Amino acid sequence: MRARRDWHGDFFKNSFYNPASPAALAHAPAEAAFILKQLKLKKGSALLDLCCGPGRHAAEFARRGLAVTGYDLSAEYLKEAAALAKKRRISLRLLRGDMRRLEFLGEFDAVVNLFTSFGYFLNFNDDLRTLKGVARALKPGGLFLLDVINGAYVRKSFRSREWWEMEDHFLLEAVELTADGTHNTWTRLPKRGGRAVSRTFFTRLYDRPRLSAALKAAGLRPLRFWGGFRGEPLKSGSVRLICLAQKA
Ligand SMILES: C[S@@+](CC[C@H](N)C(=O)[O-])C[C@H]1O[C@@H](n2cnc3c(N)ncnc32)[C@H](O)[C@@H]1O
Repeated sequence: MRARRDWHGDFFKNSFYNPASPAALAHAPAEAAFILKQLKLKKGSALLDLCCGPGRHAAEFARRGLAVTGYDLSAEYLKEAAALAKKRRISLRLLRGDMRRLEFLGEFDAVVNLFTSFGYFLNFNDDLRTLKGVARALKPGGLFLLDVINGAYVRKSFRSREWWEMEDHFLLEAVELTADGTHNTWTRLPKRGGRAVSRTFFTRLYDRPRLSAALKAAGLRPLRFWGGFRGEPLKSGSVRLICLAQKA
């Protein structure tokens, strides 16, 4: 099944998908530490967490002294990020909006986009619009760190059907691979009975050459690549594709 053009408008709801699962929350401090090591920002520097979701990384960045703006389309996740900030007694500026329509101008020392929060649009020009918005939002010489699933890995290890057992439900996945990316249909089956719910999302698959070309077209110069948050070198079998780029 193919994703609708506007699938991201109703996919990101806790009742269906929660990016702040216990495992994801547990990984956030080490991921944030790796990111900050690469960005080398002074205390008080302005950082934009683009598609911050429930704020698990944004909160870590703020705890380490950065002035953090979290930006996301999902009102529900932003509310959670605000609650997390309150609980941890840190300050986060949280804004709701679409990543294709960033209006910041030379405001940030760095921008991050994490956990495959990029590549959602069926039209490549929308990805490019997003990257151009990132470039505009950065101060001259500012840095952009992007973390997506490695397209080379997805193509190499492609499986059209998978399933996982979660705490209170089973998650079934059916995937259609196209020249551009994957259309993934997730079906959530509650363990204690109740209705199965399905949603289909799209991820444009970026490998190193494709991502480099897109970044350059937006005025961002790729500097370094990694295959994981422990600083592993990027290989075709790496699950993650992490790139550090600089405003040209
Ligand atoms: C996979 S989640 C990752 C969230 C967060 N970065 C993390 O690691 O926990 C993707 C995020 O992108 C956001 N998102 C999806 N489409 C968006 C859009 N068009 N503009 C802004 N945010 C969007 C979702 O609401 C969600 O919070």
